[in-house]
Amino acid sequence: MTLLGEQPAATHVLITGASAGLGLELARLFAADGCALVLVARNESKLAALAGILRKDFEVDVRIIPADLTRPDAVQDLLNALQEASIGIRVLINNAGFGSYGRIQDHEWDLYRRMIDLNITALTGLTRGLLPGMIACANKGGTPGIMNVASTAAFQPGPLMGVYFATKSYVLSFSEALHEELKDAGVTVSAFCPGPTRTEFFRQDSMIPSGEISEEHLAEHRRRDARRMDAGAAASVGYQGFLRGDAIVIPGLKNRFLAQAGRFLPRAVVRKLAFRMLKTD
Ligand SMILES: NC(=O)c1ccc[n+]([C@@H]2O[C@H](COP(=O)([O-])OP(=O)(O)OC[C@H]3O[C@@H](n4cnc5c(N)ncnc54)[C@H](OP(=O)(O)O)[C@@H]3O)[C@@H](O)[C@H]2O)c1
Repeated sequence: MTLLGEQPAATHVLITGASAGLGLELARLFAADGCALVLVARNESKLAALAGILRKDFEVDVRIIPADLTRPDAVQDLLNALQEASIGIRVLINNAGFGSYGRIQDHEWDLYRRMIDLNITALTGLTRGLLPGMIACANKGGTPGIMNVASTAAFQPGPLMGVYFATKSYVLSFSEALHEELKDAGVTVSAFCPGPTRTEFFRQDSMIPSGEISEEHLAEHRRRDARRMDAGAAASVGYQGFLRGDAIVIPGLKNRFLAQAGRFLPRAVVRKLAFRMLKTD
């Protein structure tokens, strides 16, 4: 993965998965603070609509780059597009991600492959590809940083969501390592770990193993949705924590407690409790 030629000045905040949910809320927060943005996701029309609103409301430069980050060349293509447009990235928000619900055999391998490619491979590739520009930015007195969106799922195994929880453990571990490793270079790295949050996340097909949505399922979904945190509120906590330079940011008292509780219990108890919490029947 390479960035060819001279690096443009690091001016923009790049947010993956900016077309909905937490990414969209983070885009609003950065724009409200006067930051120029690059918004990335698959849905071009949603990105264009959001870009229009942010330009109008906050008078900031907003570019969009539609991309499916599960594609093998996606990261290199994105780096090339930034280079061609002479856009330097000061802050990288690795937010795009999705999960699945059900026993491992309920979904095809291709779904898990795409989840790993998005939640882990693209996040790592963009971090590696954009880091030299960020270090150069810090050397010139700028304030570069990376926010990786992990989850409270990162803190324990998740029976029925095993691959997703494991990808988020990777994100947390990788981010904590970089937080220490890049301190001297002047690049802030935060792992943002929301708990259950009201977004499109739980509405994805991959979250319904049988492919059938029963009345019972919908009622349970609505009950759970009502208990989930508001996306704007969660993003705002993540944003403030990132600005402070916190290594790990967990929004909500209950989420902070649950994330830490596992450290004081035997692993066998933790995984059994997680299974019980994730089971719906
Ligand atoms: N909601 C929660 O309870 C929760 C809790 C903890 C952590 N998280 C994490 O928070 C992050 C954001 O999730 P969310 O809850 O905001 O979900 P969301 O509302 O479903 O948003 C996901 C975003 O990722 C984008 N995306 C999905 N697949 C993509 C792909 N292949 N290439 C590029 N972009 C893609 C989506 O846009 P397009 O469809 O337009 O591509 C969308 O903008 C994820 O990493 C998730 O794991 C969520």
